[in-house]
Amino acid sequence: MTPATQEFPGRTYVVTGGGSGIGRAIALALGAAGARVVVAGRTPGKLAETVRLLHEAGAQGLAVPTDVRDPEAVDALVARAVDHFGALDGLVNNAAGNFVTPGIDLSPNGWRAVVDIVLNGSFFCTRAAARQLREQGTPGAILSVIATYAWHGHPGTVHSAAAKAGVLAMTRTLAVELAPLGIRLNCIAPGPTETEGAGAALWATQEARAAVLSGVPAGRFATPREIADTALFLLGDRAAYVTGECLTVDGGQWLGKQVYGRTTVPGV
Ligand code: HXC
Repeated sequence: MTPATQEFPGRTYVVTGGGSGIGRAIALALGAAGARVVVAGRTPGKLAETVRLLHEAGAQGLAVPTDVRDPEAVDALVARAVDHFGALDGLVNNAAGNFVTPGIDLSPNGWRAVVDIVLNGSFFCTRAAARQLREQGTPGAILSVIATYAWHGHPGTVHSAAAKAGVLAMTRTLAVELAPLGIRLNCIAPGPTETEGAGAALWATQEARAAVLSGVPAGRFATPREIADTALFLLGDRAAYVTGECLTVDGGQWLGKQVYGRTTVPGV
C-alpha cells in the first residue's frame, strides 16, 4: 500500500468528462487513493465503464449522465452525488469539446458549442460544488483541466483557447473569493497526452504524431496517469496552501516552442 492509497479516504469528488481519457484516469486515481468518485458526462456507456473499473479496483463510483451545459442538470448532479455518498469534497472540471478549425470560418454555433461546454460548463459545475461546500461548511478543492494555448494561443483552437483562458480567469477570481471558505481552485494544463480522444482529434496520422512530438522537449507524450498524479496533488492536502494556480504538465512543450526552429541546443 503506497502513501497515496490513503490520501483521500472516504472523500467524494465529481469528475466531469469522467468516461474517457484524462477524466477517467483522474477518476481511477482518486478511487485508488480512497475516494468515492461520481463521474459525469454525456455518454452513459462510457461512464458505466469507468464505474465498472472503479468497482473492479475496490473503489466506490457512481455514474450520473449529465450535460454540463445545462445548469439545472449540473445542480442535480451535485445533489445526486451528495444524496448517494453523503457529502462533497471536490470537483474536477475535465469535460471538454474541441475540434481544430480555422477561426475565420467557425460558425457561431461551433463557437458556442465549445465555449458552452468548456467555459459555461466549468462555471456551472464550480458554482454548484462551491454552494454545496458552503452549505456543508467544509473545505474543498476544485480543479479545472485547461491547456497551455489558453495563454500562448494556437492556430485552429480559437474557441477552445478562449474558453480555457476564461476558465483560468474564473479559477483565479474564485480562488480569492472562496479562500475564506477553505475552498481552493486550481488548474492543470496537460501537454499532449496519450488518450484515444485527443489522439484521434489532434494527431490522427503518424506524420501528425511526429510533428507534435518534435515540439516536446521531453520527446514523448504524457501518460494519463502522469496527468492524474498532478491532479491528485492539487486536489489533496499536500497542496493545502496552493490556490489560484495553474500547473503545466507538458514535458517542456510550451516553453520550448520552436521560435528559432529547434528545441535542443547542439551538444545536449
Ligand atoms: C467545424 C464543427 C466541427 C468541425 C462541429 N462543428 N464539429 N465545425 N469543424 N470539425 C460545428 C457544427 O457544424 C455545429 O455548427 C456546431 O459545431 C455544433 O456541433 P454539434 O455536433 O451539433 O454539437 P455537439 O453535439 O454539442 O458537439 C460538441 C462538439 C463535439 C464540441 C462539436 O466535438 C463534442 O461534443 N466533443 C466532445 C469531445 C471532445 O471534443 N473532446 C476533445 C477534448 S480534447 P453549425 O453552425 O453547423 O450548426 C481537447 C484536447 C486539448 O480538448 C488539447 C491540449 C493540448
